[in-house]
Amino acid sequence: MMGSRDQRPLVTTVMIVAAAVFCFRGASAADPSFGDNFEITGAEDHVKTSADGQTWFLYLDNKTGVGFQTKEKYLFGWFSMNLKLAGNDSAGVVTAYYMCSDVDAAPERDELDFEFLGNRTGEPYIIQTNVYRSGVGGREMRHSLWFDPTADFHSYSILWNPKQIVFFVDKVPIREYRNSDKPNKFFPIMKPMYVFSSIWNADDWATRGGLEKTDWTKAPFISSYRDFTADACSWGTAAAASPATSPPSCAAATGNSWWDQPPAWALDDAQREDSAWVARNLVIYDYCDDRVRYPSPSEECALRTTSS
Ligand SMILES: *[C@@H]1O[C@H](CO)[C@@H](O)[C@H](O)[C@H]1NC(C)=O
Ligand SMILES: *[C@@H]1O[C@H](CO)[C@@H](O)[C@H](O)[C@H]1NC(C)=O
Ligand SMILES: *[C@@H]1O[C@H](CO)[C@@H](O)[C@H](O)[C@H]1NC(C)=O
Repeated sequence: MMGSRDQRPLVTTVMIVAAAVFCFRGASAADPSFGDNFEITGAEDHVKTSADGQTWFLYLDNKTGVGFQTKEKYLFGWFSMNLKLAGNDSAGVVTAYYMCSDVDAAPERDELDFEFLGNRTGEPYIIQTNVYRSGVGGREMRHSLWFDPTADFHSYSILWNPKQIVFFVDKVPIREYRNSDKPNKFFPIMKPMYVFSSIWNADDWATRGGLEKTDWTKAPFISSYRDFTADACSWGTAAAASPATSPPSCAAATGNSWWDQPPAWALDDAQREDSAWVARNLVIYDYCDDRVRYPSPSEECALRTTSS
């Protein structure tokens, strides 16, 4: 499969340089430890931390998985994390890294998902992304990757502003999800979200409908995390200065936040080129092309600016 892919184009150095400048604040923020940003959800004994507090390891075994979530919730911004996924025969293991609005309003939730579906040793991981607005998802895309995500840390990022949501892998835009000028029911725009991650057993669906089962003799399965960045509008901080029910002022395009300025409202030429390369070579499944599930494509499908 690898051999049949085109040569990857040069990664968009423009974007990397731009992001490095834009993210200066996040990156330079005096190395807060992981525990400053996150709290553990579930079995605390299934989380380990590196000696310097900068890397977290989530363990899945035959008893339980575990997760964490940010203490803050955010409305728009740039969210990025470096992850190294569980290897060693991880079929059935799913690592989710996602954003979701208030968990106590789950049926109405907005959500942006990366899900990493493990595989047998030597077989490729799949990345699944999805977008929910008010509890309605069904917008899955699946991609393969151009590297082994269990061998090293790679960055997985989401840009979210009122014009677009973009999923990035190592700064390469693998999926764009654009808002339209008209009022619509597909673009998450009202609800602040937390950032979550978790590792769990999903061998009932993740392995081509449950074909392969998790091999518990290979447990524990471990996903590793570091370098979290939320260069974003933090709801909690903002709400202190304004009524909690109205959006914080940082959520408006006031001119101060790079992630909600014209250059962040659409992919640039280099990003569109990368995105087209991804579309040609790495897409395994796209709900926009699934005429069995959706006899006519959903409204948002027509808004993409790149095609293969
Ligand atoms: C879970 O794994 C442990 C260690 O491999 C093993 O001793 C135990 O029997 C397993 N429990 C179940 C319910 O499979
Ligand atoms: C695979 O297992 C070995 C031995 O337990 C461990 O050192 C290594 O970190 C594991 N690799 C991954 C990618 O989980
Ligand atoms: C696992 O590997 C097989 C064989 O290469 C592939 O067909 C499948 O899509 C991969 N991913 C999952 C989640 O099964």
